[in-house]
Amino acid sequence: MPGRLAGKVAVITGAGSGIGRATARRFTQEGAALIANDIAVDAVNETVEELVAQGARAQAVPGDVTRAPVNKELAQSALDHFGALDVFFCNAGGALPKPMLETSDEEYRAQLSLNLDAVWYGAQAALRVMVERGRGVVLATSSGAGIGATEGLPAYGAAKAGVISLMRSIAFEFGRQGIRANAISPGPMGSEGFMSWLDTLDGGRETFETQIPMGRLGTSEEIAEAAVFLASDEARYVSGAVLPVDGAIHSTLASPRTLPAER
Ligand SMILES: NC(=O)c1ccc[n+]([C@@H]2O[C@H](COP(=O)([O-])OP(=O)(O)OC[C@H]3O[C@@H](n4cnc5c(N)ncnc54)[C@H](O)[C@@H]3O)[C@@H](O)[C@H]2O)c1
Repeated sequence: MPGRLAGKVAVITGAGSGIGRATARRFTQEGAALIANDIAVDAVNETVEELVAQGARAQAVPGDVTRAPVNKELAQSALDHFGALDVFFCNAGGALPKPMLETSDEEYRAQLSLNLDAVWYGAQAALRVMVERGRGVVLATSSGAGIGATEGLPAYGAAKAGVISLMRSIAFEFGRQGIRANAISPGPMGSEGFMSWLDTLDGGRETFETQIPMGRLGTSEEIAEAAVFLASDEARYVSGAVLPVDGAIHSTLASPRTLPAER
């Protein structure tokens, strides 16, 4: 059976771990050829070794995506290695939790650079190729922190809100040229690091999980499934959207408890 991404060539940034690695697995399982990027050289090589061992077509191109030339290299590598560029997934990112008044100018700039500038450079590099080909998909990983305020993440949240706006602008400007652009907004993932940090807090992970309508943290694999859909032709009329994959966190407001606590 042909995969949902058969014949497509994709770039994924931040593919050395977490959401990027899970998406690299799913994209190649669905038949895509892949340029996998990460700043962590060993990690991205490990991702690619695993995929190639399973028969996938994948190439590691390590580098720091906060630098514009690295993004151009990723787009060019897709053309050089696989002859096309169909999907560019700007996924690399990361949060520095810090209250606003304790955030230095350098820390603020670093958060904007990693979480917004890198997406701008990646999208621009991709669009230069996609406009010529008359088709393509730009995807970016935003965050729940880009939709609503989250404690300690003002700079990260501002950058992730910018990512949503940028995808909308691309959808608007390039829609008639066959290009779609969408953002995925993950809720908090149950990664090892995050879980052990939660355990150090008052109430631990349980207090946190009770605030999530679906009652649990998400997984990288669940984000990867959303990315497959948005990258595929199944989503051919979906553009300018932000897709929350967060157990319904984005849809809630503070409310008094009127139902039994065990619900
Ligand atoms: N984990 C969560 O709970 C969560 C929630 C919402 C959004 N996100 C977003 O999801 C995306 C992926 O995060 P994750 O949870 O998989 O985290 P992760 O730390 O497991 O993966 C991020 C990857 O990006 C790489 N990276 C960092 N800086 C880079 C750079 N300058 N150039 C290239 N690669 C770089 C890292 O080496 C790492 O492999 C990020 O954009 C993050 O902001 C994560």
